[in-house]
Amino acid sequence: MKIAIAGTGYVGLVTGICLAEIGHEVVCVDKNQKKIELLKLGIPPFYENGLEGLLKKNHNILFTSDFKTAYKEAEIIFIAVETPENVDGSANLTYVYEVSNEITENLQSDCSIVLKSTVPVGTSDEVERFMKKNVSNNINIEVLSNPEFLSQGTAIRDTMEASRIIIGANSQEAANLLKQIYAPFNRPFVITSRTSAEMIKYASNDFLALKISFINDIANLCELVGADIGEVTHGMSFDDRIGTKFLNAGIGYGGSCFPKDTKSLHWLSKDRGYELRTVRAAIEVNELQKTRLIQKAKKQFSSFNGIKVTVLGLTFKPGTDDLREAPSINNIDILLGEGAIVEVYDPVGMDNVKKIYSNKVTYAKTPEIALQDSEVCFIFTEWDQIKQIEPSQFKKLMKSPNVYDGRNCYRRSDMIDSGINYNSIGRP
Ligand code: UGA
Repeated sequence: MKIAIAGTGYVGLVTGICLAEIGHEVVCVDKNQKKIELLKLGIPPFYENGLEGLLKKNHNILFTSDFKTAYKEAEIIFIAVETPENVDGSANLTYVYEVSNEITENLQSDCSIVLKSTVPVGTSDEVERFMKKNVSNNINIEVLSNPEFLSQGTAIRDTMEASRIIIGANSQEAANLLKQIYAPFNRPFVITSRTSAEMIKYASNDFLALKISFINDIANLCELVGADIGEVTHGMSFDDRIGTKFLNAGIGYGGSCFPKDTKSLHWLSKDRGYELRTVRAAIEVNELQKTRLIQKAKKQFSSFNGIKVTVLGLTFKPGTDDLREAPSINNIDILLGEGAIVEVYDPVGMDNVKKIYSNKVTYAKTPEIALQDSEVCFIFTEWDQIKQIEPSQFKKLMKSPNVYDGRNCYRRSDMIDSGINYNSIGRP
């Protein structure tokens, strides 16, 4: 089937390459010429495990900025453009409508439009109305909602082996078309109304965000009562209803999804006159959690002025070079604001960090270089390269071994036995 995909971000590009892998003819459209030129050479515009290999070997996928031709020839078009956050927390649909307009201006035959971007509940209905109004009379359009559940770092696997494929459609015929496209993945389908499909996406992300904020809240209490969050979650996890996942306490969630999607659903609930108080709590706990560790450190250092501080791990999680909403940024801003001399290390995020901090911080090629002569070390991302540092190295390399670990990368006893002043999350 001839498929066009609008947007070459994580969702668009990964969906495109995975659909090409199962034999569809895919054309990915993006207005950013620089991105398109890179993609034509098989170079992904962001770091994602396995993506470059697939791009280099697959011949069913094309990249273009010529959206007119791409949309004209497509049998089905996926919209996977960004939906950034407005200042009030609502989702900004400018790009979705821009693409919808370009599609209707160029369509020459009947077409199914699949909304893959995370869009507020009710958007598929509105986009369909908008497109039907704009398109030539003789062309039939049907909009489907098909939210995405991939995580950065495991995006290819999450797509090829999706836990479920949600199809929100107004007709069985339209749903069948998408089922046919995805059939080779051999994953479970869930067919719903478009509105329910849109809600499934938000409810899933917000539930996971809530789980993280809940466990961070409990972790903070653990510190006050002398319990250990690792032991607590282990004990909880034997109950199948609770499970083991998304219960890692830390310095809060970041990324392009949870922060935006919690705010967006909370905004929607208030707009409809029913405030989602649980989601508001998840947002509030997360905001406080992001700087909790530095607040702890401030009890030891009344000011960071002139102090060399090492920051290990900058991306919002391991497996990605993405710094969007990463807790590390909030903390580095505070440190710089106080006059700290900051040296940073991240195994893949350095180029993106340079775009933010330029010469305001020093960039180390290895964690060991970053630790040299430092008085405080903050760990913000649990990369393997960071977890593998021997506890004795902190003691050996740092001027004074004060380690504030925001991802509980180490066993407390190992660090304390090595003579380190070790602080982590939710542990006595
Ligand atoms: C998330 C969802 O997990 C995906 O299912 C969804 O498709 C995606 O958003 C999206 O809407 O596009 P992602 O943002 O890539 O995926 O990353 P996650 O692995 O969910 O992690 C998000 C944040 O939560 C990270 O900062 C991570 O460090 C934090 N986290 C995660 C914790 O603090 N504790 C945990 O136990 C798990």
